Amino acid sequence: MPKVKKVNFALLGLGKLGSGFYKVYEQKRDSIKQETGFELNLKKILVKNLHFKRQAYIDKTFLTTNIDDILNDPSIDVVIDAIGGVEPVFSILKKVIDQGIHIISANRTLLASKMHTISQLVQEKNILLLPESSMGGGVPIISTLRHDLVANNVKAVVGILSGTSNFILSKMAEEKIDLKTALKSSNLMKMAESLSVIDYEGTDAAQKVSILAAGAFGLKINYLDIPASGISDISLFDIQCADEFGYEIKPLAILKQSPDFFEIRIHPTFVPKGHPITLIKGDQNAYFVQTDLIGEYMIYGRGIGAEAASSLLLRDLVAAGSVTRAHSSRRREYRINWNHKPILPIEDIISAYYIRFPCIDEPGVVGKITTALGNANINLTSAHAEVDKKLHPDIGYVHILVESAPEHAVMEAIKTVEEMDILKGHAKLFRILRSSK
Ligand SMILES: NC(=O)c1ccc[n+]([C@@H]2O[C@H](COP(=O)([O-])OP(=O)(O)OC[C@H]3O[C@@H](n4cnc5c(N)ncnc54)[C@H](OP(=O)(O)O)[C@@H]3O)[C@@H](O)[C@H]2O)c1
Repeated sequence: MPKVKKVNFALLGLGKLGSGFYKVYEQKRDSIKQETGFELNLKKILVKNLHFKRQAYIDKTFLTTNIDDILNDPSIDVVIDAIGGVEPVFSILKKVIDQGIHIISANRTLLASKMHTISQLVQEKNILLLPESSMGGGVPIISTLRHDLVANNVKAVVGILSGTSNFILSKMAEEKIDLKTALKSSNLMKMAESLSVIDYEGTDAAQKVSILAAGAFGLKINYLDIPASGISDISLFDIQCADEFGYEIKPLAILKQSPDFFEIRIHPTFVPKGHPITLIKGDQNAYFVQTDLIGEYMIYGRGIGAEAASSLLLRDLVAAGSVTRAHSSRRREYRINWNHKPILPIEDIISAYYIRFPCIDEPGVVGKITTALGNANINLTSAHAEVDKKLHPDIGYVHILVESAPEHAVMEAIKTVEEMDILKGHAKLFRILRSSK
């Protein structure tokens, strides 16, 4: 066995994540010591309410409500933030940083808005900020991009960052049910126990991708500035149309890098059937990465829950332990080099599209729509009219596939069509992920 080094740490918060982590830590600490030579040693747990009833397996002598008990213990090397929210945690962490204690943060809300500030503070103190557990789940994407793929030029990361949204869309497709019925699934209720909300509008995914963008690419972006839409507007008819044209709808976060700019956005996307990311059906997080040296690479794993996050928390404790040794040069590996490349506004992206127009059932409608798109210099891959008197007695649908066009041109053309008095509702648009082949 290698020489043993103690890593003393404190845990902030003992809720769903904190208590789940405690259990996994107790189960794994011996094998981690055996494997790595680091003896992970919990010293204190900060909670809000000392008298709150805790799980039987928790040793209550660790508990404190006073952060000074942690700040004034010079043996503590690392703090894990498992509280949540911005304040008072941000103020607490500033004090922790002042003491030169490394920070592992699972706090998504905090990092999604304050990652840049916190990383500057830790840099001034030459300590670590390890943010990966805040992404939800246990899939190590930031460290994979930063360390394992360091020699690669990463062109794109396409992720499923909302396991519940992905589960709901998969269930709708498999069982041919609408969103409302899928939401009643007992499995979904079980998953949602570890979440305060289901990510209908893509906000959680926006928080996660902002942390990924900062941690892996040095991209400074507030999650509120990321164009994000969730699954609240997806109908069974959308899923059936996707299927008919050879696609599945997936809730994707897309982060692309070109020499001059980044693209970053979150939206339900038409993904060609057979694309590796369509294999992800349940509550998993997945990342499909495209690089110059290894081509395509995908990792996935449990996207929800304290057990999965604890996998990263324990890994980060070992990482923090390894830089508390004399090897201070290793700290640079974890430092974010901020990137000043601009982010392309979503109106300027170039994408493939599926657009569906609900129309009056009259001759000439398809011609009017394709002419409007043609006038906007949009080349169509196909235009297909459909009238289903049984399902939609009063409406004809025109389905359009566009191979590649600037988003602003597509939006302008849709506006022109909507002004023509031939529609029986709004057009529906999905961006298409190009095939990985
Ligand atoms: N739940 C998960 O599986 C998971 C996974 C990855 C990341 N996360 C992130 O981890 C964080 C915590 O999530 P959670 O689900 O564990 O939340 P939670 O169940 O609400 O637990 C929050 C904990 O923080 C403590 N706390 C709250 N305010 C405090 C204060 N002012 N001072 C000291 N302690 C305080 C609470 O103490 P009391 O117990 O005394 O009330 C409680 O133990 C969030 O940022 C979440 O996004 C959670």
